[in-house]
Amino acid sequence: MYLPSSLQVLALANAATALHFPRQVTNTTKYAVKTPPLTTDWTYKVGTNPWPEYPRPQLQRSQWQSLNGIWTWQNASSLDAVNSPPFGQTLSSEVLIPSCLESGLSGIQGDYLLTSWFSTSFTIPSTFTQDRVLLNFGAVDYEATIFINGKNAGFHRGGYFAFTVDATSYVRSNGTNELLVFVHDPTDSDPYVIPIGKQTLKPSHIFYTPCSGIWQSVWIESAPSNYITDLQVAAGANGQINATVSTSGNGTAGLKIEVIDRKDNSTVATHDGPANTACTFNVDSVSTWSPDTPTLYDIKVTLGDDEVSSYTGFRTISRGEVNGIERPLLNGKFVFPFGTLDQGFWPDGIYTPPNREAMVYDLQTLKSLGFNMLRKHIKVETALFYQACDEMGLLVFQDMPSLRPLQQRTLSNCTIETILPDATQQDEFARQLDLLIIQQRPFPSIFSWVVYNEGWGQLTNYYPEFALTDRVRQLDPTRLVDSTTGWYDHGAGDYSDNHHYANPQCGSPFYSIDSSPYDPSRIGIQGEFGGIGQNVSIDHLWNVQEAINTINQTYEIDQTIDAWNYRGHRLLDDLHDQIVRYACSGGIWTQTTDVEGEVNGLLTYDRRVLRPDVGQWKADIQNLYDAAAARTNASTAAPTAS
Ligand SMILES: *[C@@H]1O[C@H](CO)[C@@H](O)[C@H](O)[C@H]1NC(C)=O
Ligand SMILES: *[C@@H]1O[C@H](CO)[C@@H](O)[C@H](O)[C@H]1NC(C)=O
Ligand SMILES: *[C@@H]1O[C@H](CO)[C@@H](O)[C@H](O)[C@H]1NC(C)=O
Ligand SMILES: *[C@@H]1O[C@H](CO)[C@@H](O)[C@H](O)[C@H]1NC(C)=O
Ligand SMILES: *[C@@H]1O[C@H](CO)[C@@H](O)[C@H](O)[C@H]1NC(C)=O
Ligand SMILES: *[C@@H]1O[C@H](CO)[C@@H](O)[C@H](O)[C@H]1NC(C)=O
Ligand SMILES: *[C@@H]1O[C@H](CO)[C@@H](O)[C@H](O)[C@H]1NC(C)=O
Ligand SMILES: *[C@@H]1O[C@H](CO)[C@@H](O)[C@H](O)[C@H]1NC(C)=O
Ligand SMILES: *[C@@H]1O[C@H](CO)[C@@H](O)[C@H](O)[C@H]1NC(C)=O
Ligand SMILES: *[C@@H]1O[C@H](CO)[C@@H](O)[C@H](O)[C@H]1NC(C)=O
Repeated sequence: MYLPSSLQVLALANAATALHFPRQVTNTTKYAVKTPPLTTDWTYKVGTNPWPEYPRPQLQRSQWQSLNGIWTWQNASSLDAVNSPPFGQTLSSEVLIPSCLESGLSGIQGDYLLTSWFSTSFTIPSTFTQDRVLLNFGAVDYEATIFINGKNAGFHRGGYFAFTVDATSYVRSNGTNELLVFVHDPTDSDPYVIPIGKQTLKPSHIFYTPCSGIWQSVWIESAPSNYITDLQVAAGANGQINATVSTSGNGTAGLKIEVIDRKDNSTVATHDGPANTACTFNVDSVSTWSPDTPTLYDIKVTLGDDEVSSYTGFRTISRGEVNGIERPLLNGKFVFPFGTLDQGFWPDGIYTPPNREAMVYDLQTLKSLGFNMLRKHIKVETALFYQACDEMGLLVFQDMPSLRPLQQRTLSNCTIETILPDATQQDEFARQLDLLIIQQRPFPSIFSWVVYNEGWGQLTNYYPEFALTDRVRQLDPTRLVDSTTGWYDHGAGDYSDNHHYANPQCGSPFYSIDSSPYDPSRIGIQGEFGGIGQNVSIDHLWNVQEAINTINQTYEIDQTIDAWNYRGHRLLDDLHDQIVRYACSGGIWTQTTDVEGEVNGLLTYDRRVLRPDVGQWKADIQNLYDAAAARTNASTAAPTAS
């Protein structure tokens, strides 16, 4: 694993003195969208001020400024380049931030961009009245080394996680500041085995174009010298709140947490300090959060001169036996979670949705068909995505991004082995799993954590999912854990999770190769099924020949949309039957949208064609909830299969 020698970098950085402003940009290629293989209705609406929303709704400050927009970029040519930063120089191309370098929206649309320089300049707004300047990144894939005004100001590893650099000692408030970022993203190049989800340098079939670079928002904000660094809030259906407010310094004088009812902006609870330790208090007669009633409460935290706003929802997730069957419970009741495999890929932005409206369009589509859940598949989205799920009432099964899935290498003795993490890579996977839980656990909509998908990156010489599940539960005792969704289940976690295409095998007395028999001591769910495809027309396809060549690897292709809807009806009816007869407690339909060579979405990849017959799907999905509700009724409970 590569680690920059910070001493070396600092020595060089300090040697670089003269910075030249303003820059010469005459020879820099101007920004324009590069025509992607497929557009969306939003592609040409993005403009050059993308993602203007405050990016961190659960720790929001009022004095802030977005640094999103046009930066400059150039290929850094090697890892050693980090030791000779191009301070004060003109980089070769303009680039849109945030974006993936491989996307049309970036203006670059390159590939194999493993090392990059990004540059911008900024001034500190006169409205910044506090002592400190914090520089925030929503996510950079995969490693970022930050230089401010010629000095190394920080390093971060992990492509899905937000980080903050205290820029105070590096910035000048009376002039222009140079921000230079070195990014290293090896994706699945040898010898790296890192969390990448569905990204690959060689896209084919179910693995897609990778994302490199600064793919989520960048912003600066003003904070006092002792400021709130993190806010962790968990709120239960009984009105109990557990909160930890972390601060940059030791002073905790004047720490106050207020809970505000959005109905009338009235303060319904106030709690005073201390900081940096867990505290518990209660809010009387709360309205609980659920997919049908996604009630949220605002939170205001003050610490001396620092004030941040946040929100939460009151709900309790647990499991328990209902009429003899192990069920997932929301606020003490069996709620049948039914969602889609939600990949979060875009033909114009790859990992970065073109804008918030586009991102929310996917969620509204799910909601309008009656889904109450989505499985965020081996990717982590911007905080605004989870905020939308919290507001709209969509439960989230959150996957950990997988390590280098399904790849093999040939050893010198001609043995072919599956690429799995070595001990150091496994430790790094575990460290990033911690980051995932800590970053995402304040979102009320997250219902379950998923550790491994279909054995990808899952060592089998021992069963790492047991220790990882214990760790997840230690970090978050308030959620359920799906330790292995599909394939190698050794009994860890809360779910007995089957994957099967096209028809489901949910909590049922039948199963197939690579899956395990339903285990009645855990919750039986169908972690993936469906996957039926329909090839609409070239106008809605990712127009890349390699992708088009793999369409025929779809589990099932239906020749017309009518046939596709007929098949959807049959498969949902199958799942319905498994709820009625067996122990099926939840399901995940593959998938929200087409992606590259996959044509099995509810929506095409460009989001322009919605395949479902809405009335039929709504009725079929409602039938699932009704069947599940009937199973909670002791007098009508069907016998279980076993
Ligand atoms: C810009 O390009 C011109 C023509 O290609 C070249 O003569 C000039 O030296 C370049 N300027 C810089 C600053 O690189
Ligand atoms: C980027 O640099 C690498 C390493 O020098 C090189 O292999 C690659 O072709 C370059 N890519 C582009 C788009 O310039
Ligand atoms: C900014 O302030 C510094 C320190 O006071 C001073 O040396 C510098 O000349 C000032 N720069 C500008 C552009 O005013
Ligand atoms: C708060 O923490 C206590 C002690 O760990 C735990 O029993 C309780 O369930 C937590 N409540 C919530 C709402 O997370
Ligand atoms: C907090 O207090 C501890 C012990 O008194 C001290 O070692 C540490 O430096 C202080 N940290 C800050 C940020 O002031
Ligand atoms: C609550 O306060 C917000 C922000 O000040 C305001 O936009 C909103 O209209 C208020 N809502 C009610 C119900 O008063
Ligand atoms: C090939 O080499 C690997 C790694 O050294 C070893 O584990 C494996 O047993 C070898 N296979 C054969 C057939 O010799
Ligand atoms: C799928 O299509 C590709 C290219 O059109 C072809 O080479 C391949 O044989 C086809 N595979 C199957 C299973 O039909
Ligand atoms: C899908 O449609 C495209 C465009 O019409 C066509 O080139 C391709 O052969 C089709 N593939 C399958 C498997 O239907
Ligand atoms: C439970 O079953 C009884 C007897 O069949 C029926 O009257 C009642 O409506 C059912 N309740 C629910 C919630 O399905």
